[in-house]
Amino acid sequence: MQTVSIGSVHYTEMGTGTPVFLVHGFPLDSRIWGDAGAMLASSFRVVVPDLPGFGKSTLNVPASKQNVSFSMESLAGSLLELADALRIDRFVLAGLSMGGYVAQALYRNAPERLLGLCFVDTRANADDDTGKAARNKMIELIDRQGSPGVVESMLSKMLHPGAYLLDPALVERLRDIMLAQPPGTLRSACAAMRDRPAFFEALPTLSCPLQVIVGSGDAIAPVEVAKKIVELTPGARLDVIEGAGHLSSLERPAEVAEAIEAFVRSIEGKVG
Ligand code: MLT
Repeated sequence: MQTVSIGSVHYTEMGTGTPVFLVHGFPLDSRIWGDAGAMLASSFRVVVPDLPGFGKSTLNVPASKQNVSFSMESLAGSLLELADALRIDRFVLAGLSMGGYVAQALYRNAPERLLGLCFVDTRANADDDTGKAARNKMIELIDRQGSPGVVESMLSKMLHPGAYLLDPALVERLRDIMLAQPPGTLRSACAAMRDRPAFFEALPTLSCPLQVIVGSGDAIAPVEVAKKIVELTPGARLDVIEGAGHLSSLERPAEVAEAIEAFVRSIEGKVG
């Protein structure tokens, strides 16, 4: 583990070869990629960051500023700064859910840096009015109850339904990760997700290969959403991970690592 001074982004870097960034979602941190990242590191140079404000990373704002805010673009900018600091020019970027929105923002600003995009359990639409209202409610909940309010509201939707009965250890692991995220970060992330633009219009002419991975039981970004993204993107590949919910990288790390490995190998075959 090394630290670089871009809002103090903490990241784990493992392995050698084609660079692959693995980006977490909301309200989470790099631990959701831990096992899959370690598996991928036997083939590639894997970088797993905590986005600014999440996990062990901090936000680069004065301590006095209570309501810190960021955008998907600024989070994407922090990934580019990390890549620059690591002297990585082009890389494959896999983002889970909110991490996918960050990947979309990075593509919008710097498509030339991407060897490939991998959307994991994510969406390409913007929030509609109902979605925006739900974000505002979540912000109010965070203001009233802090991070435990988010856990209460989201924990039961994150994993495949079977996990809540069969894998209490995984549920507790997830609860710990969610509880560890600071309320100020969660608040800013809700606002940033609420205000993000759609990505659909970029899909038909995407300048790099796209992989879409989705848990068969994803209740937040369901399989139909993944299929729609693939339909709109020429040449995109779809991997449905059986037995996983919204957090396929945490729930089925071996299957997700295998799917990403096949995708990156296909890119290496084309460029090398
Ligand atoms: C996530 O998992 O990152 C979030 O559920 C994404 C969202 O709420 O849109």
